[in-house]
Amino acid sequence: MFDSGFGGLTVARAAIDLLPHEDLVYLGDTGRYPYGSRPLDEVRRFGTEIAEHLIETYDIKYLVVACNTATAAGVDLLSDELDIPVLGVIEPGAKAVVEASESERIGVIGTVGTIDSQVYDAVIGKINPDATVVSCACPGFVEFVERGNTEGPQVQILAERLLAPIIEGNVDTLLLGCTHYPYLARTIGETVGPDVVLVSSADETAFALADDLRELGLTHPDPDRQGQHRFISSGDVRAFTVLGSRLLGPELVDAERWISNAP
Ligand code: DGL
Repeated sequence: MFDSGFGGLTVARAAIDLLPHEDLVYLGDTGRYPYGSRPLDEVRRFGTEIAEHLIETYDIKYLVVACNTATAAGVDLLSDELDIPVLGVIEPGAKAVVEASESERIGVIGTVGTIDSQVYDAVIGKINPDATVVSCACPGFVEFVERGNTEGPQVQILAERLLAPIIEGNVDTLLLGCTHYPYLARTIGETVGPDVVLVSSADETAFALADDLRELGLTHPDPDRQGQHRFISSGDVRAFTVLGSRLLGPELVDAERWISNAP
């Protein structure tokens, strides 16, 4: 599993809870974060490099792209090239938000890369052609999470400014279309108000992963074993361990360093 940094830990948490007997290798590309403001072909290159590294070094059987921007860049479409199944976060999140919406007015927030790609408009439109999607990019949210500032007046002021189009859009559901955003859920929820249901793709992606492993016959044969969890960062490993353990929980006790060949 990989993300640009700490955001994918929301997906990792859900996957560890649902599949405690599976091993997990998580790579946070904190040395090159943020992905959201980069051209999508560059993000796709980073994602491909990470996928190849995880396959070659850890012999992974399945890859989860725990990042909306990398999924929008098409990294989840690499299954044939990589010879292992690959799952992105966009389809599971889109399905969940369509199911949760009664008014069929759906809000989506994400990075500039994800929102500009209009991938959510396309995927939600395919699932429910009657749905209206109100989307907006939230530059700055990811940086707050990466600094460990998930609450407080500064993030509140930013949220009020960025989420104005969502409030004006009169939506009944809001998809957190960036894996970092669940860490800001309290601030986002307070800003959009109690009538808007927040949907995170983390749990849905873990459910889709569990279904896929079962259908493909890839589930670990011993359901009673305790899975091993490894964490890797391309940036400052100590900082990754300190904030990562706060965000993920006790499974993250240390992290290894990975140096990309293509900074
Ligand atoms: N967490 C990522 C996402 O879901 C990317 C954040 C970033 O690096 O900009 O899009």
